[in-house]
Amino acid sequence: MIEKIQQLQAEIDAFQASLREEVERFRLRHLSKKGTIGALFDDFKNVPVEQKRLVGQALNDLKTKAIEKMNALKERVEAAGETRERLDLTRPGDPLKPGSRHPLSLVKNEILSIFSRMGFAISEGPEIEDDWHNFSALNFPEEHPARDMQDTFFIRTSPDILLHTHTSSVQVRDMETHPLPMRLVTPGRVFRNEAISARAHCIFHQVEALYIDKGVSFADLRQTLDYFAREFFGQQTRVRLRPSFFPFTEPSAEMDISCSLCGGKGCNVCKGSGWLEIMGCGMVDPNVLALNGIDKDLYSGFALGMGIERVAMLKYGIRDLRLFFENDVRFLEQFTAAGI
Ligand code: DAH
Repeated sequence: MIEKIQQLQAEIDAFQASLREEVERFRLRHLSKKGTIGALFDDFKNVPVEQKRLVGQALNDLKTKAIEKMNALKERVEAAGETRERLDLTRPGDPLKPGSRHPLSLVKNEILSIFSRMGFAISEGPEIEDDWHNFSALNFPEEHPARDMQDTFFIRTSPDILLHTHTSSVQVRDMETHPLPMRLVTPGRVFRNEAISARAHCIFHQVEALYIDKGVSFADLRQTLDYFAREFFGQQTRVRLRPSFFPFTEPSAEMDISCSLCGGKGCNVCKGSGWLEIMGCGMVDPNVLALNGIDKDLYSGFALGMGIERVAMLKYGIRDLRLFFENDVRFLEQFTAAGI
């Protein structure tokens, strides 16, 4: 008898139901008058007297547990049925949020599109470079501070291999492989050993342009800069060039635009000056042409390079560069609606 009770207990414990009919089947099999438990109660009279106490208790236990199980199953099945009934199939679905382009991609694409309208083709180069392409072929002297470990990420296994610190390294690759004349624009990610702050990051983005042909002059550079500034920042934008120095250009200049926020009157973004520094540029140094196998007496060229983060910050009025890298959706999704 005890054995039978245990078997039934195991069967009852294992039973599962997801439909009302299944619960009813459970009730009929175990708890109805002619059910398994009822049959055991009928047999109870045949149990020897000395076992009656023990078996009676086990039988009562079994019955209580079976009733509890039935009630639990009933409750669960009914709750599931209710949610099924509450489901309103005519309701519209939850909207899927479409992603948006990253502001740096928007700005990069806009810059590339302006340069491609001027006939520049896109060229890209490797992020892992050697010293020659990043420094030597660009006329950097041996002792230049940019070659220092403090500024540049070198690959540990070789003092010659590094993460390129500017997209100017791609100019060298272009001069090696591209037929003349060349008019190329290069977007890229660059790396410098800088402390991360609101104004600097160890990874950032640049766009570089290079134009080499017979008779390219500073006037061509100036015209290109004017066109770019007006297309990107608005037709009222004015451009100013200040003398500067880069090892790979001669003469070199720093290009400023009239402040896009105050229009040149002076505000806290342009620090009261009315001008914003946008990029470095210059005529490709004849030494660089020669180092890269180009006849410097026949050809001349100009180059320019700008930071995408900087341009994007000015365009959108963003004050902390770190926002570009944190991927906070609340920041990123603002750049779809503007349709830029
Ligand atoms: N490579 C320079 C930098 O990362 C930017 C630059 C300056 C690029 C002048 C040029 C140029 O092509 O002509 O700071």
